[in-house]
Amino acid sequence: MLRSAVKKKRIEFTTDIGRIRDGQTTFVTVGTPSNEDGSINLSFVKKATEDIGASIRNSEGYHLVVVKSTVVPGTTSRVVRPILESSSGRPCGDQLGLCSNPEFLAEGAAIKGTLRPDKIVIGAEDDESRNTLAKLYKRIYKGKKVATITTNPTTAETIKYASNSFLATRVSTINTIADICQRVPSADIETVSKAVGLDPRIGPLYLKAGPGYGGSCFHKDLQALIAFGQSIGYDPILLSAVEEVNQRQANEVVRMSQNLLGSLNDRRIAVLGLAFKKDTDDIREAASIRVIDQLLKNGASVSAYDPMATENARKVLPEQVSFATELGGCVKGTDCCIVMTEWDEFRKLSPRDLRTMNAQNIVDARRILDRSKFQGFNYVAVGLGSAKP
Ligand code: UDX
Repeated sequence: MLRSAVKKKRIEFTTDIGRIRDGQTTFVTVGTPSNEDGSINLSFVKKATEDIGASIRNSEGYHLVVVKSTVVPGTTSRVVRPILESSSGRPCGDQLGLCSNPEFLAEGAAIKGTLRPDKIVIGAEDDESRNTLAKLYKRIYKGKKVATITTNPTTAETIKYASNSFLATRVSTINTIADICQRVPSADIETVSKAVGLDPRIGPLYLKAGPGYGGSCFHKDLQALIAFGQSIGYDPILLSAVEEVNQRQANEVVRMSQNLLGSLNDRRIAVLGLAFKKDTDDIREAASIRVIDQLLKNGASVSAYDPMATENARKVLPEQVSFATELGGCVKGTDCCIVMTEWDEFRKLSPRDLRTMNAQNIVDARRILDRSKFQGFNYVAVGLGSAKP
């Protein structure tokens, strides 16, 4: 899609910030990383706003600025607006529009999320800003019905954090139940999730137990909301618990391998999958990093394999980790393999693929293997009750 758009000259890229003047609407999509204490770092948003304001300062005509970056409630009105007004030399409402318009794209599904969004959220400072952005989306989605929520910027910003808080809470809730199942012989989280998800009040999505959530958003956004809450005199302890459960889920995975092997000292462990989810090379906040860190601390040696994420992982994991270019090389001579990412390649694993292992131990942290194929293996899995809790 990108190649064809470039070819048709429907998109171009420039480092010349002054080109903003040629357009009528500017979207701010810069990153909002965490400060050391977890609070949001708005320096890129501030800089972008200043640059936009400066470049439209001497231009004529209406210009709409849209904040798409994830920012804590109140940022667009209380931080972006004053910077924009002073750098552009015009007040909002007078030839200058301002909206918050959060995005809800998930990695690996960005095109689907863009073409068929479940909603558009427009948080506008005034009527003209709202109408201008609504018209733009109407042109993009002509003929398609897309639910559009129009509100003020602060509520729009809150919607984004509420979404990620809910999703992360669901994952930590199901992982909590999985950790209980784990300790009760014959309880199985997969059947629990399936049944629970049939309740229309709950629904089936984000109920897959695993090694804990990763990615660039959930952890960062929850930390930002916790810090923001605290800064306004409210400690959102539920969200802190969601984060703590998520951190601890890595210990569960390591504990399962300890149950199989006893001490991990001098044991060789194969980690299958490094990416925080399949179909991406992204290892930011990936559970694999937390698990590998603990395996190494317990004296194990680790070989890792991922179809896409190896290069990125190499940059952040300690030198002791060896990286294999294919699955066979990764499992060879190991005492246990841990499935950390739900890649389709791993879903199809058979005992033949693992024949060169030194011992037949599997930890399925994603619940993707067909257990019936692995007779003769010691198979343990997240949320699958075992005789030895
Ligand atoms: C997320 C939100 O989905 C998206 O709306 C927001 O804009 C950005 O953050 P993303 O980080 O790309 O998107 O990943 P997502 O698919 O939501 O998964 C996040 C993590 O949760 C992954 O590590 C995934 O493996 C884990 N997860 C998800 C589970 O462990 N169980 C589930 O049932 C669902």
